[in-house]
Amino acid sequence: MKIQYFGHSCVQLSFQDKQILIDPFISGNEQAKDIQIENIQPDYILITHAHQDHILDVETIAKQSNASVIANFEIATYFSKKGIDTFALNHGGSFTGNGFKAKNVNAIHTSSFPDGSYGGQPSGYIIHNEDFAIYNAGDTALTYDMKLIGEEFTIDLAILPIGDCFTMGVKDAIKAAKFVGTKQVIGVHYNTFPPIEINTEEAVKAFREENIDLILLPIGKEHHL
Ligand code: NI
Ligand code: MN
Repeated sequence: MKIQYFGHSCVQLSFQDKQILIDPFISGNEQAKDIQIENIQPDYILITHAHQDHILDVETIAKQSNASVIANFEIATYFSKKGIDTFALNHGGSFTGNGFKAKNVNAIHTSSFPDGSYGGQPSGYIIHNEDFAIYNAGDTALTYDMKLIGEEFTIDLAILPIGDCFTMGVKDAIKAAKFVGTKQVIGVHYNTFPPIEINTEEAVKAFREENIDLILLPIGKEHHL
């Protein structure tokens, strides 16, 4: 399992011969200008919610790769109307792919489309098979529901927002890591815009004090699980 970071909340999971892209926001992110979108060819695109900073490049990448979009019912319907292959989920439900499952779990956030129209409820996902379980929280506040994830799964790694303002900050993300029971966190949704700028050294140190590794990947780089 390899996790590549494309900036903001966009990551790509690669395992066996599959690639799952999550929340592509690349062309609108100055910090990700060296990422070549045309080289991103996932099999699946997982979307946590309808905000611009999570869906901006979905249409382009889905059309160039023929990827299936997995999202809540409202977002799936939106992309289905654009001729993209979609699979709709809602909280508690799972998508069964070839060699993995993706379970849609609760996230505390909002989910309007960029034009203000209704984007359904925000989601997190557990992407799992016999070899791994990864929790991608999406944009969310800390919620006690995360304990349910720790009860059901042995989470190897969690991808958590840490930028505060629109989502959890570092302190709550540490608690989230404990709730789901993981010792490894990839931090996302920080330092893209001024309101979510954080001191990354202090963040790593705060996680370390709780014996949790906070991995902050440079854009384009990979983490191997
Ligand atoms: Ni959001
Ligand atoms: Mn966001």
